[in-house]
Amino acid sequence: MKVGIIGLGYVGLPLAVAFGEAGADVVGLDVDHRVVDGIARGESSVEDVPSERLAPLVGERIEVTTDHARLADCDAVIICVPTPLAHRREPDLAYVESAGRSLAAVLRKGQLVVLESTTYPGTTRDRLLPILEESGLRAGDDFHLAFSPERIDPGRTDHTIRTTPKLVGGLTAACVDRAVELYSAICDEVIPLTSPEAAELAKLVENIFRSVNIAMVNELAMLADRMGIDIWEVIDAAATKPFGFMRFEPGPGMGGHCLPIDPFYLAFKAREYDFPTEFIELAGKINQHQPHFCVDKVVRALNNVGKPARDSRVLLLGVAYKAGVGDLRESPALRIAELLRELGADVAYHDPHVADVPQLGLRSAELGEELAACDVACVVTAHPEVDYERVVAEAPLVVDFRGVTRGIEAQNLVRL
Ligand SMILES: NC(=O)c1ccc[n+]([C@@H]2O[C@H](COP(=O)([O-])OP(=O)(O)OC[C@H]3O[C@@H](n4cnc5c(N)ncnc54)[C@H](O)[C@@H]3O)[C@@H](O)[C@H]2O)c1
Repeated sequence: MKVGIIGLGYVGLPLAVAFGEAGADVVGLDVDHRVVDGIARGESSVEDVPSERLAPLVGERIEVTTDHARLADCDAVIICVPTPLAHRREPDLAYVESAGRSLAAVLRKGQLVVLESTTYPGTTRDRLLPILEESGLRAGDDFHLAFSPERIDPGRTDHTIRTTPKLVGGLTAACVDRAVELYSAICDEVIPLTSPEAAELAKLVENIFRSVNIAMVNELAMLADRMGIDIWEVIDAAATKPFGFMRFEPGPGMGGHCLPIDPFYLAFKAREYDFPTEFIELAGKINQHQPHFCVDKVVRALNNVGKPARDSRVLLLGVAYKAGVGDLRESPALRIAELLRELGADVAYHDPHVADVPQLGLRSAELGEELAACDVACVVTAHPEVDYERVVAEAPLVVDFRGVTRGIEAQNLVRL
């Protein structure tokens, strides 16, 4: 089996490695020369794929290229390109369309095409299919077409591509059968759905579920703050119920490539149906407000020790959007830093996964020196490498947005 993969980022590269390790020949294609050159040298830019795993496959099982003609002799081609939001928070399908056009130019009879990029229901059928049919080939007859959402969670090791059930929705029954056969090579369980639209919506439901629940606990954290109740104790207590409760934690806001973006793909599509998706909008509003609430909490903590935010040195512990990874995309830490700077604070950060943040013009500071020098240290990302007992012992004031200091009692400690 020969599998083409278009887009070698957080989704495409792990997929290429999974197929390569399963014994397939892989043609990995990216439009970015730096990405292709790096992989060709056996260097991975995706934390979940160590270079030691990638390097032995490159040249053996995985060929990397910027030339679409190399896709012509693949049995299946999987599209994993970005689906960001454009201005006014509307879907930007330019990458999917461009990948589709390049593929149409080399598409041949008998190939299977699968879209994995997260998007609204109807994209595969209404946007990708007509572009692919510009080849002169008919979808469902000459080539097969399906959608299969990527469910990867960067940094997670307890669930892998192999152990996470894979959803596939095809244009026809034969399209589904082909897609099931393809993914059975790398996934223990492949679940066929009756349409690409069902598979597209299933992915969005998963992300909206998380976004809404995170917003709910964030709102309750703001209320608990006002009531003087420890939200972490409350969540720990509620989570002892063995049924009917699923734990979500408050934090500094939502980051990453998925949750702040994907739900708005559905909100956009819903407008065509005269349907306001109020849960999505409300969750977005609350989660976007969370960095403001966190900065307010820092300002109050400083005030209580007689310091203004202006000219205070604020050390952000963690700038990545979540623990254990170095991904800065949509990270609430960036917004928190901006808001603090607007107040005149002097912002520094320490993050074992992020050496520098060009947007802020900062480099990761040495923890020891900064703990002593800062006026307040704020736990923004719960990276497991940081010793939080030491942070509380050495910093004059600590504000914890992640609950990592639970169990520590200290006068200089404030939790969300
Ligand atoms: N990152 C995640 O955790 C995650 C999880 C699930 C789903 N997704 C979805 O998967 C899709 C890809 O996300 P990602 O995080 O891998 O993005 P990414 O930015 O890490 O990688 C995308 C790659 O596609 C390349 N590319 C762009 N246009 C191209 C084209 N026309 N032809 C070839 N290559 C092209 C880019 O150069 C880049 O290397 C998105 O729709 C995203 O929503 C991401």
